[in-house]
Amino acid sequence: MTDSAVNVSRLTKIYGQGRTAFKALDEINLKVERRGFVAIMGPSGSGKSTLLNIIGGLDRPTAGEVYIGDVEVTGQPESQLYQIRREQVGFVFQSFHLSPILSALDNVLLPALPLGITHQRRERAKTLLDRMGLANRVQRKPAELSTGERQRVALARALILDPMVLLADEPTGNLDSHNGAEVIRLFRELNEEMGKTILLVTHDARVARHCRRVIFLRDGRVCSEEEAGLEEVI
Ligand SMILES: Nc1ncnc2c1ncn2[C@@H]1O[C@H](COP(=O)(O)OP(=O)(O)O)[C@@H](O)[C@H]1O
Ligand SMILES: [Mg+2]
Repeated sequence: MTDSAVNVSRLTKIYGQGRTAFKALDEINLKVERRGFVAIMGPSGSGKSTLLNIIGGLDRPTAGEVYIGDVEVTGQPESQLYQIRREQVGFVFQSFHLSPILSALDNVLLPALPLGITHQRRERAKTLLDRMGLANRVQRKPAELSTGERQRVALARALILDPMVLLADEPTGNLDSHNGAEVIRLFRELNEEMGKTILLVTHDARVARHCRRVIFLRDGRVCSEEEAGLEEVI
């Protein structure tokens, strides 16, 4: 068993072909240790979302390899990728991506649908919503929740199948500072108490300060890395 939760080697992504070809990722190497909590920062267009999407199997690279634990994500057929996306990673997006017609509880259960909604999974979904401070919101639809509450439902959904790694792309990007701080506090708790490995993209230095390590991207390359002290949540 490797000691890395995420291992990226020489990852390259070229969009388009010929004269319009554009190199969004240029031989990226990146390791995230188990129970790591890493932020990726960088200017808009530097390749942050492309990197996260390829790590999570939502997009395919032009070259290079990605491992989640011992499972190789790259080079898998679509049928396998589907399973990897479902079981190895949990995704949280800037714009929540919740189903508007489902309750908070059913949104959390959605990734479990192909595996069967057992009593145990329903209880786990409730426990996760409780942990997110949403015990009295389980039957509400997204439109009946605040933006901060919607992101906490999305966080519970990302955890329902107990993935090895949580991937989050600008998870506080649509939240005000109070709700953003609350979501970051929950990420911290998941990392420190549940041992979840977290890789998150942010352009907010206040968010990155809470991570253990910050990686800076520029023009599709890792341009620097620094250890960050964990800050108290205000
Ligand atoms: N599907 C795509 N087709 C062509 N170019 C893309 C596509 N997705 C992203 N890009 C380009 O790749 C670069 C990196 O994009 P992205 O990963 O979204 O950056 P970031 O998340 O850091 O803002 C940008 O220049 C963007 O325009
Ligand atoms: Mg992006």
